[in-house]
Order: sequence, then structure tokens, then C-alpha cells
Amino acid sequence: MRFVLNGDDSTCDACMLRFFLRLFPLLALAGCGSGLPPPSASSVSSPPAAVAAIYARACKNCHAVAGTGAPQTGDRAAWAPRLAQGDAVLIEHSFNGYKGMPPMGACMDCTEAQYRSLIEYMAGAPLPKK
Ligand code: HEC
Repeated sequence: MRFVLNGDDSTCDACMLRFFLRLFPLLALAGCGSGLPPPSASSVSSPPAAVAAIYARACKNCHAVAGTGAPQTGDRAAWAPRLAQGDAVLIEHSFNGYKGMPPMGACMDCTEAQYRSLIEYMAGAPLPKK
């Protein structure tokens, strides 16, 4: 690609730099999402792709394996009494662990927002605020 400045045919280094600086955030975003399906803004039941990836690598190992003692994904009856504790308790238990639930749930870089999405996904219901 060539940039033309003031009608002469030389490449504009500053333009080139500005072009790449503007492109950089887009490239960074594209890099993060690679290998995952594009997020669909309209989907309500399935979590954002980034959260689905965390679920698959961390939570699923227990929350989709019967006999681990973990409330199973989509088992609303198992999640109901847990949801009744409210968001603050469930987020706190996600970070610090609770009985057989290990601290951070095997996701060492998870954020509070991600835990909220993960819990809502597994419980199949919104996280009640308390
Ligand atoms: C090593 C297995 C394991 C992994 C990995 C795991 N959990 Fe759990 N989790 C459990 C078990 C077991 C319980 C049930 C603890 C109990 O009540 O005895 C539990 C319970 C929970 C609860 C309910 C706590 C409460 O107060 O009732 C939440 C919320 C939770 N897990 C979130 C997550 C999230 C989010 C992830 C992934 C980032 C995750 N867990 C990964 C084993 C696991």
C-alpha cells in the first residue's frame, strides 16, 4: 500500500505509522477471537464466546461431570438453592472456593463479570442481586 503526500509519489512514513496505530486495536481484537465463533449479539441462552471458552476449559471439568458434587450445568433444581444465596455470596465462593469448589474454579484470571456470566450460564437463570 502506498500513501501519496502533496501530489508527489513518495511514501508518507507518518501516514503509514498512523495507519498501523489505527489498525493495531483491530488486529489485537481479531487475535483474541481467533478460533472462536463470532459472538452473536442476539443470543440470550448461550454465553459470549470468551465465557464459553472459559467454561469449557475450567468449570466444565466438574460442573458437567456427575459425581464431582458440583451443581451440574443446566440442572435448575440443583442451582435454585445456590442462586437463592444471591450474587455476592456466589461471586465470593467463586473467588475463594467453597467446600469441594476450588478457589477461582480453576480459572486463575477470571474477572467478577466473567464469574457472573459463567454462573448464569450453568444455572440457566439470571443471578439474583442481594
Ligand atoms: C475441581 C472441580 C470444580 C471446578 C473446576 C469448578 N467447580 Fe464450581 N463447584 C465445585 C463443587 C464440588 C461445588 C459444590 C460445593 C458444595 O456445595 O459442596 C461447586 C460449586 C460452585 C458454585 C456454588 C457455590 C455455592 O455457594 O453454592 C459456584 C458459583 C461455582 N461452583 C462456580 C464455578 C465456576 C464459575 C467455575 C469455573 C470458573 C467452577 N465452579 C469450577 C467444583 C468445581
